[in-house]
Amino acid sequence: MVESLKIGLLGLGTVGTATASILLSPESRHPLLKSIEIAKVGVKTVDKRRGVDFPEGVLTTDLEGIISDPEIDIVVELMGGLEPARSLILKAITNGKHIVTANKAVISRYGEEIYRAADTKGVYVLIEAAVGGGIPVIRPLQQALSVNQIQSILGIINGTTNFILTKMTAEGSDFADVLTEAQELGYAEADPSADVDGYDAADKITILATLAFGQQVNLDQVSCEGIRQVSAVDIQYAKQLGFEIKLLAIAQQEEKGLQVRVHPTLVPKSHPLASIDGVNNAVLLEGDPIGQVMFYGPGAGGGATASAVVSDVLNIAAMLTTNGSVNPLMKIPQHPSSELVSIAELVTRFYARIICVDRPGVIGNLGTCFGKNDVSLESIVQIDFQNGMAEIVVVTHNVKEENFRQALAQIPQLEAIDQIEIPSVLRVLRE
Ligand code: HSE
Repeated sequence: MVESLKIGLLGLGTVGTATASILLSPESRHPLLKSIEIAKVGVKTVDKRRGVDFPEGVLTTDLEGIISDPEIDIVVELMGGLEPARSLILKAITNGKHIVTANKAVISRYGEEIYRAADTKGVYVLIEAAVGGGIPVIRPLQQALSVNQIQSILGIINGTTNFILTKMTAEGSDFADVLTEAQELGYAEADPSADVDGYDAADKITILATLAFGQQVNLDQVSCEGIRQVSAVDIQYAKQLGFEIKLLAIAQQEEKGLQVRVHPTLVPKSHPLASIDGVNNAVLLEGDPIGQVMFYGPGAGGGATASAVVSDVLNIAAMLTTNGSVNPLMKIPQHPSSELVSIAELVTRFYARIICVDRPGVIGNLGTCFGKNDVSLESIVQIDFQNGMAEIVVVTHNVKEENFRQALAQIPQLEAIDQIEIPSVLRVLRE
């Protein structure tokens, strides 16, 4: 039986400050929170003004001191980045501390090493805040849904890109303009690459897929494309064809095995993910026997993410009040890794926008080329014509990615095709 628990918090950014603020005001929350004390907070500089007042001596720049302090039971890592976060987590585990972290980059790359170390020491590593901000999705996968065979996960799990795509759709604006606005509003980082190039979503889908499919997913096998190529014109055409463009993170059980990918996708307007707007996130799971379950809510932001962090702290506190042994439902199971199915094997629908000289035979040539490569077209329309150039939009039925790419590569050599440009190739959610 544990009377009170001491927390060592590493990092006092937006999420760290919001976490401290919950822990310092336990009134009207779960009663167990009253037995949790923030003993130390590791920061870069002690003298900075903060949104939260800490008792004298709590703030320190000595992070190593926190993870080796015998008084501290749980280390909450909210620094972000790979190092020193990974090393501090591992050392804290070696020192017998339980870990709560929101660090998707560390968990997606070093999760296996961290869970193994935690197993050896008999401590918890809880990661609810690493995916989907405040949305509870990790724990449902570990517990309430764990008896299902998961067939697919479709997620909008990056708030920044969803904000950008939503704004581009509503205002008809271009990617670069909306990105600048998102940076001014503080949604997008000064270096936006992790979000707009899809890496943040790739980290998160790696974590979800590893949990859901009973195999260790390696991040370097996850195919990843961001949203830089999506133009206002594509969004407009997609709208006319009945789609919204979303950055989807997808993990799907295919005939040959598991496939995991992140890319902008045309989603039919009637699909539940099409209406997820702004910085919100959603995860749509399909499993047997449960069918489809969708989680929706704020995917980022200090308060929302802190809600997930403190719920992990509370869970550890609850489990430690019962007995000393680790609750198996709260452990991240470890599995052997296996090869993912490559993106070339993907069977999906495609959207492509093609610009070339407008002359007789263009559409006929294109249709024949796709047909020869076993690519069946759902529609081929000439949408615009300017200065002698035709703008043609093609939407396919389900086709093999390899065949579609092969057809695209052959188009410039076709007899009627001249001055060809293919500014966008996007995947359409499959039938
Ligand atoms: N940068 C992330 C997003 C939030 O835009 O969703 C933290 O995971």
